[in-house]
Amino acid sequence: MTTLVIGARGGIGRHVLDLLLAAGEPVRASVRDRRAGADLPTAAEVVTADLNRPDTLRPALDGVHRVFLYLPPSGAEAFAAVAAQAGVERVVLLSSGSVLLPGMEQNAIAAEHRAVEDALTAAALPWTPVRPLVLASNTLRWADSIRSGSPVPLVYPDAVTAPVHERDVAAVAVAALRAGVEDAAAEKLTAAMLTGPELISQRRQLELIGQAIGRTPRIEELSPDQAREHYGRFTDPATVEAILQFQAAAVDGGSPRTQTVPRVLGRPGLSFEQWARDHAQDFG
Ligand SMILES: NC(=O)c1ccc[n+]([C@@H]2O[C@H](COP(=O)([O-])OP(=O)(O)OC[C@H]3O[C@@H](n4cnc5c(N)ncnc54)[C@H](OP(=O)(O)O)[C@@H]3O)[C@@H](O)[C@H]2O)c1
Repeated sequence: MTTLVIGARGGIGRHVLDLLLAAGEPVRASVRDRRAGADLPTAAEVVTADLNRPDTLRPALDGVHRVFLYLPPSGAEAFAAVAAQAGVERVVLLSSGSVLLPGMEQNAIAAEHRAVEDALTAAALPWTPVRPLVLASNTLRWADSIRSGSPVPLVYPDAVTAPVHERDVAAVAVAALRAGVEDAAAEKLTAAMLTGPELISQRRQLELIGQAIGRTPRIEELSPDQAREHYGRFTDPATVEAILQFQAAAVDGGSPRTQTVPRVLGRPGLSFEQWARDHAQDFG
């Protein structure tokens, strides 16, 4: 039963690949640029595929039963058509917990994930979403400031969320891939919102990164308008507003913590402290 991991070099995709290989399963790993596939494990068959170019998906999907899928940047329709034609039996989509959060109907990040979920449903392809709410790896955006010794620009440093380790997201995705198509209970469980085990402020996350690297980074607190300008250098205005809306709600205790990871994996989720230790070299 061959699984295609689309985005096998991604933060989550790479762990999905490694977990499937460790389970002895046949795996195909996709990259957009063939040269970038050189650092993937030799046990994986590496193929090139771009979700924006459906012609590249056909050969990648040939003989594939299951797919781990990142959000297709241009929508899911083309992917779904090719996957259905290839006889794919199960798709696990890396979606977002924001689709399950109340008050996020107009939020751009929630909307783009919901649109892809809806397209997969309409395509009648067997699929399961895996829906993390906040990835611990978002803090990698602080790495340049921390490495250079500059203060980390933060809006709402006391916003409290439960960031989830990418390794736990990948492990839940693998559980969803391996669940039988008829296994409705497993499907329902893996489709629930994923968070980390503890609610923790951005300020505390920074302290824990500091502990992992042996020095304490400073914070430059931004007003919402300063944050609009700062984030606007890296991303589009709708996404900036989506992030600010989410963080403002998190200051008021609006960000949940769920039990999905321990329920699916049968062990506690990995802590942010663990995540910071695992990534110390990214900040050091
Ligand atoms: N940030 C959050 O808090 C949060 C919360 C909920 C959900 N999410 C979801 O999680 C995702 C980020 O996960 P991550 O950290 O693992 O991502 P990542 O490390 O940035 O990896 C993204 C992967 O997607 C692949 N990719 C991008 N565009 C592609 C295309 N057109 N065709 C094929 N592959 C493509 C890339 O492949 P190449 O190796 O070829 O470049 C890369 O391997 C977000 O995009 C979002 O959908 C994020």
